[in-house]
Amino acid sequence: MREGFEEFVRACAEVGVKLRSHLREGSNVLVVGHNDADALSALGIISGTAAKMDCPFTAISIQRIEELLEDESREEFDVIVLVDMGSGYLNAISEKVRRPIFVLDHHKPIDVRPAEHVVHVNPHLFGIDGSTMVSASGVAYLVAKGISDEASDYAPVAVVGALGDLQDKDHGRRLIGLNELLVNEAVAAGLMSVTEDLILYGRSFKPVHETIASTNSPFLPGLSGDETASLNLVLSAGIEVRVGESWKTLADLKPEEKARLLEAIASHLMRAGAPSKLLGELTGHVYELLREDPGSPLRDAREFATLLNACGKGGRAWVGIGIAMGVRGAVLEEAVSILEEYRRSISRVMSMVLSERFVDRSFPNVVVLRGGTEIDPRQVSSIASILSSSNLLPPDKPLVAVAQDGTRVKVSARASNELVDLGLDLGDVMRSAAERVGGRGGGHKMAAGAELTVDSAEPFLREVDRIVGEQVRRVGQGRQLKLL
Ligand code: C5P
Repeated sequence: MREGFEEFVRACAEVGVKLRSHLREGSNVLVVGHNDADALSALGIISGTAAKMDCPFTAISIQRIEELLEDESREEFDVIVLVDMGSGYLNAISEKVRRPIFVLDHHKPIDVRPAEHVVHVNPHLFGIDGSTMVSASGVAYLVAKGISDEASDYAPVAVVGALGDLQDKDHGRRLIGLNELLVNEAVAAGLMSVTEDLILYGRSFKPVHETIASTNSPFLPGLSGDETASLNLVLSAGIEVRVGESWKTLADLKPEEKARLLEAIASHLMRAGAPSKLLGELTGHVYELLREDPGSPLRDAREFATLLNACGKGGRAWVGIGIAMGVRGAVLEEAVSILEEYRRSISRVMSMVLSERFVDRSFPNVVVLRGGTEIDPRQVSSIASILSSSNLLPPDKPLVAVAQDGTRVKVSARASNELVDLGLDLGDVMRSAAERVGGRGGGHKMAAGAELTVDSAEPFLREVDRIVGEQVRRVGQGRQLKLL
């Protein structure tokens, strides 16, 4: 194991042992985190481990750190575990929270000298990049293993969180770094398999054409959300869609049929003018959870992550936390219906977004997606991620997506690998621009966000544009951005 990894794994286990001393029978733990797939995975891992120890817990998902810092009822708990957020707010946490609090995060830390009652765990402190090598669910898993050996069952959920945070950026959509170690643990325990195949949604249970129409990430222009066009494409590739009365699934296709299907999708995308890089997102490493039913969306780790995201962004995070903990039955039925509604809604919004009506290209250094009140602020992050993972963004400018709800504005920004290589750090951009206008911002180099008031949105965008221009010029001087 790489040196930094070994040290970090050991440090997490030690924190787990420390946390265990607070999880006695009868002690009351508050587990708090963000509302995306990675956070819900982390919430599920910690809550599930506490539950296995018969320790009463309350798990809640919040959108902004203030929801914890401004709520005095947190002081009624014996111990607090904060996941997927906190590393940027260690000063405020040290000042306001008086309970023992464990911060398990993977965002770049801002202040690394928290008060004594704040235990801070973050891969960046060990020289490990938290945006590509391990996510909050991986950190939570490594800590949970220090709490109890039984937490080993959660290795696949840690992988789900990393995929939810789009950490599969390596060639062939592979997880690398500490994430790869977590995958190996899950495989060795017989909980996960890794194969290379087509990456389409519902691969093991949907008819082939529906897998294409249901695939939103990457978004396939002209196919995503359109079952008729998808069926025509499958038929044009000369693929028999049924065996007897039943529809064939992707898993039923022979390798040569899959190759023909991929070729047909490639020609379609070329005709639709989609970027050639998009095709690369359709094949690669498939991570399967072997204990899940082959007919369940939880079988494929990426689909599991989408389901969690749907629960979190749809305002029903508790369903997602339950699923990540391992609850099934009626909770899974509810989660599946939330997922289907979410997919339909994302397809609708994506078609709207691609109409260009929302796209503002008037800034020199950024492209702005102005969702106004037409796009739900809770969906902005998913839309920005889909656009970025579908290579539908210009590679030379980051995307800044904005949507509004009442007087509050939610911002999600995404950048290409190429821009990050040129020195762009969107986390820094969002933080400094938001602070300038009295808002809050932060995140990773490639994916970051902010929350603002409506009247500060325009000055914020101008500031973002200015800082992006400065960062890319300063660091990228003399280096040419290679366009697609
Ligand atoms: O909200 P969105 O998904 O666009 O955020 C992208 C990344 O930025 C996430 O990792 C999120 O936790 C982080 N973020 C942050 N501070 C904010 C908003 C987002 O660290 N105020």
